[in-house]
Amino acid sequence: MDSGEENETMYYSDEVIEEVRLRSDIVSVVSGYVKLQRRGSNYFGLCPFHNEKSPSFSVSPGKQMYYCFGCGAGGGVFNFIMEYENYTFPEAVRFLADRAGISLPEEEYSEEARRERDKRSSVLELNKLAAKFYYFQLRAPQGQRGMEYLKNRELSDETMKHFGLGYAGPDGSMLYRYLKKQGYSDALLKDSGLMQVNERQGMYDKFWNRVIFPIMDVNNKVIGFGGRVMGDGKPKYLNSPETVVFDKSRNLYGLNFARTSKEKNLLVCEGYMDVISMHQAGFTNAVASLGTALTSRHASILKRYTDEVILTYDSDEAGIKAALRAIPLLKEAGVSARVLHMDPYKDPDEFIKALGTDAFQERIARAENSFLFELSVMEKSYDMKDPDGKTRFFQAAAAKIAGLELEIERENYIEAVAERYQTSYEGMRKMVLNVLMQGAPVRTAPRSLERERRSEKDDGLLKSQRLLLTWLVEYPELYPTVSSYVSPEDFTDPLYREVASMLFEQLAKKERNPARIVDHFMDPVQQRTVAQIFNTEIPVTTREEEEKAVADTIRRVMTGAVEQKNAALDPGDLQGLQALIAAKKRLEGLAHLHISLPERKE
Ligand code: CTP
Ligand code: MN
Repeated sequence: MDSGEENETMYYSDEVIEEVRLRSDIVSVVSGYVKLQRRGSNYFGLCPFHNEKSPSFSVSPGKQMYYCFGCGAGGGVFNFIMEYENYTFPEAVRFLADRAGISLPEEEYSEEARRERDKRSSVLELNKLAAKFYYFQLRAPQGQRGMEYLKNRELSDETMKHFGLGYAGPDGSMLYRYLKKQGYSDALLKDSGLMQVNERQGMYDKFWNRVIFPIMDVNNKVIGFGGRVMGDGKPKYLNSPETVVFDKSRNLYGLNFARTSKEKNLLVCEGYMDVISMHQAGFTNAVASLGTALTSRHASILKRYTDEVILTYDSDEAGIKAALRAIPLLKEAGVSARVLHMDPYKDPDEFIKALGTDAFQERIARAENSFLFELSVMEKSYDMKDPDGKTRFFQAAAAKIAGLELEIERENYIEAVAERYQTSYEGMRKMVLNVLMQGAPVRTAPRSLERERRSEKDDGLLKSQRLLLTWLVEYPELYPTVSSYVSPEDFTDPLYREVASMLFEQLAKKERNPARIVDHFMDPVQQRTVAQIFNTEIPVTTREEEEKAVADTIRRVMTGAVEQKNAALDPGDLQGLQALIAAKKRLEGLAHLHISLPERKE
């Protein structure tokens, strides 16, 4: 598999997915990643998705779900693998099928697609062999020069091993001879990018007399190489050409490790050595684009792993330009950026060597907001000592602020700019309003605020609905009683309604499979909400209290449903009126409802 973009039309059937789920017990899968301890009917451990000291991450064998009470991560076994390994759904299915020894139906390939696939796997195989060859060379007596160079750059043996560093000696056809002996054809060797062809000399190694950095994709497959001269020769770095498996615009060096880092952001830097030094210093969330500018492809790949990137580019002019180019691409992809200041050092490698880990950590914490970074670059082209220059700068700043989408965002930046540049807040605000009124497109009401307008009352009602659904999953025995009062239409939120109707359908068939309901939703935000719905904390201790709480909850859900039907009723809607009357009747019948729960099976 390549850099992870899946063909969306490639689906496995529901039966196949169900089979994989059945054979992938969540407790056993999660145990491979998290140390779990049994507590009652559930298992608990430290959440792998956020940093914590006491375990709030739970795994329920009964529900076949996990849920973290600390950070809200949750879902079924597929979601766990998707989140932990950063896989797409089909990747997670394949991974778990493999683990369970289930062979999946072959996807259909055209003849041409099959040939392409075969070529890809041959090149990957060659790359792996070459990586092993270079790796061995570095550690053999003939690799001494390479080893000295890397040691001189303060890399530990462990780091060299982790990144699979290697060495290509001065003989320019060692790898060629080695691979020919293994029986590979010249045509394939040429396609691999490992060789160069010259009319007089024929085929010879692309890399010689260099230390070698194998480049891996997110699945740890070697897709190409970088080689550095051991001194001041030129070119300093040599990289594999683009091949069937190597596309610089969609691979990031170090992402195979960084993707499982617990940090919430990723550090994006310029080079191999920077990534390696940062990882060695414990900043395992560092990646680099491979000797090219960051592309929008990179940005959308980064978005799969994080919402925030810290740009740790070199402190020279090229680094500043690279940051200015990267910021809008990242923003476009929905990733926010901050800019780390490296001065007085050139790059992270030099910084960490000179000032150490703590100082670097502090720079990360103080990394500058990208908008303010852009402004401070802008500022340099105005004469801030001259009153007119200063005014022009503020006008430019106002125009930039006016370009922001949300009113609250604009407000915040007006405030930040006024404070940073010691000018009046009101003056800045007026300038921004002026720009906005001069025909800049009228913005609609800030969308993101609308969601916050949900009243507390609604939240309370949703909580009751969640509780009820959690109870139903924990005690399927309650279903006949509950369903005689409550129906899926009584749930007020469309997502809750859909979840309720799927759960009711399962329980009516004496089935209980909440994990399947989670998988039904494609959107990760929805999946999280569904996991939350089935993992609501039940705030009681004794069985009697719990029985009373269930009855109260049913009443609350029904009251909410009646109120909502009432409010939404069109006076001419006779059917609606009848439904309302029926719901009211059921509500009255609930006055003396008593629920009896089965013994909890601890
Ligand atoms: N690069 C390249 N070809 C070059 C120079 C640089 O492909 N001739 C790419 C490499 O990916 C390199 C990155 O650009 O890692 C950054 O280059 P530079 O800042 O010059 O190198 P450093 O990473 O600082 O490398 P070193 O510390 O080894 O000098
Ligand atoms: Mn450097």
